[in-house]
Amino acid sequence: MQFFIDSAHVADIQAAHDMGLVDGVTTNPTLIKKAGQDHKQTIQAISAIVDGPISVETLGTTADAIYKEAQEYVTWGTNIVIKVVMNAEGLKAVRLLANDGIPTNVTLVFSPLQALLAAKANATYVSPFLGRLDDVGYNGMELIQHIRTIYTNYNYSTRILAASIRHPVHVLEAARIGADVATVPADILKKLFHHPLTDAGIATFMADAKAWSSR
Ligand code: E4P
Repeated sequence: MQFFIDSAHVADIQAAHDMGLVDGVTTNPTLIKKAGQDHKQTIQAISAIVDGPISVETLGTTADAIYKEAQEYVTWGTNIVIKVVMNAEGLKAVRLLANDGIPTNVTLVFSPLQALLAAKANATYVSPFLGRLDDVGYNGMELIQHIRTIYTNYNYSTRILAASIRHPVHVLEAARIGADVATVPADILKKLFHHPLTDAGIATFMADAKAWSSR
């Protein structure tokens, strides 16, 4: 399973990269707003750190506008993925970009049928939003399972990118189902290292070592 970091915060991305945990990055307009820096400069700074795919979200509302925006974004780094919202114009743009060999990420996916359409449009990645579905009383993980089944049935190469991850169990379950990628916020990435028994075990070993090392 690949780990992308779901952030536009350059320091967080650098730290996760230094831990060897970043295979790619996903950004969106909200994450760019939170990071508080210029969009282009932020993506360029991320691109200087990470070799893997960096998703940059388009804002255009027509296929032509999205396609034009994409031409600009691909100049911002060496491995830019064009993030496109799930709707008819978005998928039209995905087809155009796929014909040009430009990778895409279809975002805001909340149903298996939307994911099927994204695969038929030849999207590189599809982003089902787990946490936002859970928030409104649906089972986000079930969506990942349905998409995995459909993509396996028809041998689609579109990669399942589990998004809107809110806690470590989302990462665990997405991995068990066989999502290709999990895009994980920096604070959750850090939590993956921990287990209370590991922490307790380290504390005991350190205390015991102190006792015999001073003999
Ligand atoms: C990633 O591509 C998505 O934009 C992101 O995971 C959304 O997460 P959120 O639902 O926590 O905003």
